Formats: sequence, C-alpha cells, structure tokens
Amino acid sequence: MFGLGKTKTIVGLDIGSYAIKAVELKIKEKGESVQYEVQKIGYEPLPHDAIVEGTIIDSTAVSETIKLLFENAKITNKDVAISISCNSVIIKKISLPSMDPQELRESIIWEAKHNIPYPYEETNVDYWEIKSSRPADNMVDILLVAAKKDKIANYSNAVSMARKNLVAIEVDIFSLINAFEINYPELFKEKTVALINMGANITNVGIVEKGTPQLFRDLSLGGYFFTENIRKELNVSFEEAEAALKGIPGKSLNADQFAAVLTMNIRDLLDEMEKTFSFYEAGERRERRIDQIFLSGGLALIPNIVNAFELKFRIKTELFNPFRSIKYDPKKFDSIYFNEMAPVFGVAVGLSTRKVE
Ligand SMILES: Nc1ncnc2c1ncn2[C@@H]1O[C@H](COP(=O)(O)OP(=O)(O)OP(=O)(O)O)[C@@H](O)[C@H]1O
Ligand SMILES: [Mg+2]
Repeated sequence: MFGLGKTKTIVGLDIGSYAIKAVELKIKEKGESVQYEVQKIGYEPLPHDAIVEGTIIDSTAVSETIKLLFENAKITNKDVAISISCNSVIIKKISLPSMDPQELRESIIWEAKHNIPYPYEETNVDYWEIKSSRPADNMVDILLVAAKKDKIANYSNAVSMARKNLVAIEVDIFSLINAFEINYPELFKEKTVALINMGANITNVGIVEKGTPQLFRDLSLGGYFFTENIRKELNVSFEEAEAALKGIPGKSLNADQFAAVLTMNIRDLLDEMEKTFSFYEAGERRERRIDQIFLSGGLALIPNIVNAFELKFRIKTELFNPFRSIKYDPKKFDSIYFNEMAPVFGVAVGLSTRKVE
C-alpha cells in the first residue's frame, strides 16, 4: 500500500531487427528466494531494413513500433532496459579483491581507463560480476563492458523518440544468461550449457560453465539469410519465402527444392556453430565438454531444428523456455506467448529482471 516496500519494475525491451519484444515482470523477494510473475508482454514486427547490422537506420520506424507495442500490450510503465550486440562492445575479464560496492565502482573506472582501447570519455562502461567467483581467495571476477557512446546514442535516441525512459543497457547474451539462470537454476549451477539465440540477422552464442560465462559470440547468422536464400533459389517473393520458413508453404512452392535449400542453410549454420564450439573446447588444456544446448530466438521455431543440432553434435538439445519458472495468469494473456513463441522472449525476460536503484 502507498507504494511502500514495492520493488520498482522495468520493461525489458528487446529491439531486434525482425521484431520488438517487451516483457514486464513483477518481482517478489522473500528472503533468499525470488518469485517472478508476468505483468505485461508484447510483440510487434518491425519493417525490413529499419535495423541493419545492429544499427538503427530508421529510428522513426523503430520508435513508432515501440509506441504501438506499448499501446497494444497496455504497458504503462515507461522505464525500459534494452540490450545491444556484443559486437558493439568490448568485454574484458578482470579480477579484483572483494570490496564494498562504492570502492568496486571506483576500481572499475580505473581499470576501464587502463584496459579499454578507446578514450574513456567516448565510452559507457558497465560491469557484470561473475557470481560463482572465488570466495576462497577473496577475489571477484568481473566482466568489464565498454560501449562506444555513439552506438548507445543510436539506440537511446529511438527509445526517447518513443517517449520512454532508458534506465539500463545490457548486452544481448548477458540478458539471455540472466533469463537462463532464473529459469533453470540447477542446470545453471551444475552444468556446462550452450545458450544460442538465433534471430534474423544475429545469432548470440554463450557458453556458461557452472554459472561462469566462458565464451560469448555474436555471429552474423539468422533467419533473414535463410529467407533470402529461399527467395533467390526458388524465385518467390520475400513474403512467400518467409511463410515457407515458418512452415506455411504456398501452393506454388516446390517442396523438394525448398527442403534442399533449407537443409543447406541449416548445414551452414551448424558448421558455424561447430567452429564456435571448437574454439571453446580448444581454449584450455583441461577437457571441456558442453552438456546441453538451449535454442532460442525466432529461427529456433522452424521445424526440426532441435533434431538437427542433436544429430550434428550428439548433445542433448532443447528449446529454451524463458517462462519455465515464471508465473503468469493464463486468463490475462494470449497463450501463444508462453507456448509456441516462448523461445523468442529470452532476452526480454532477462532484461526485465534488471534491478534499478
Ligand atoms: N514461427 C516463427 N515466428 C517468428 N519468427 C520466425 C518463425 N519461424 C522462423 N522465424 C524467423 O526468425 C527470425 C526472427 O527471430 P527473432 O525475433 O529472434 O529476431 P530478432 O531478435 O528480431 O533479430 P536480430 O536479433 O537478429 O536482430 C526471422 O528471420 C523469422 O523469419
Ligand atoms: Mg534478437
């Protein structure tokens, strides 16, 4: 009552090049345990070419789509957190003695000035504390994240044009890892998992070993390239190609030809993934093995993709469900968000768990 003791919520806004997704969670803390419940959720496609290679080209289209999304999903909270690709930032792992938060902040600024190859004034710096750090030797491992200010301005501009307050910026793959941690806490702590978010233009890959992120990559791969290849090879429109990719082939579509193009695209995707996995496995002398793969993003929704991963890598693979440990009222929302489309909301869920002061 009177707002006392209420945790401030933020809207996790995943501005993808294909669609914008938003999730707002209610967060209830009870001692050590935290319970999350969906307050609002929304999804709105973006026009093609509004965002190209991680840069917003048409900020009006993006801001209008954000406005529409908030209207349709009846979101009234204006405080949003967004994320950017890890190709737009520099990430450095540093170790510091444990200290109080204020001192930590100052040390991090000092480290950033000495570790980041851009002038400090031109960058925004944030950090991510690795929770499973080393309590034994009283050190904490920190991932220092620095983004060029112009990159951030490109996104924050579209957000302010939509009349929203930007309260936090994160890196896509970190948000996905956050969402994984709250939904699969036992696997997060005990296993080595590969989290893969396959969007339209970018595929985020993160390998997390017992709670510690060991590798993160953003690859220039995604459904857009699939659609383009289908369009060219089968001589159909972009819309027809896209419908076929989503499993709704038009009558005139040559089914055999389509299957051949799709198989080829999936093979290329798996080959790229294999390179990333080998990079991780070859990273250190001790044996490294991925126990499980979790697929998310729009491209994870195409038929048989989970099977294709299992066949190629012989590693247990499943779709990532970012609502696995989150409550929601089925009467309030379209159930498609929590079923068929759930894997698309990983980043938005992770963003909405960000705490703001
Ligand atoms: N059933 C589906 N629903 C939505 N998208 C699908 C579906 N099946 C395949 N896709 C493809 O998934 C891609 C969109 O995925 P997603 O929404 O995760 O991308 P994004 O986050 O907007 O893009 P990016 O992060 O790469 O900029 C598109 O290429 C789309 O064609
Ligand atoms: Mg995306």
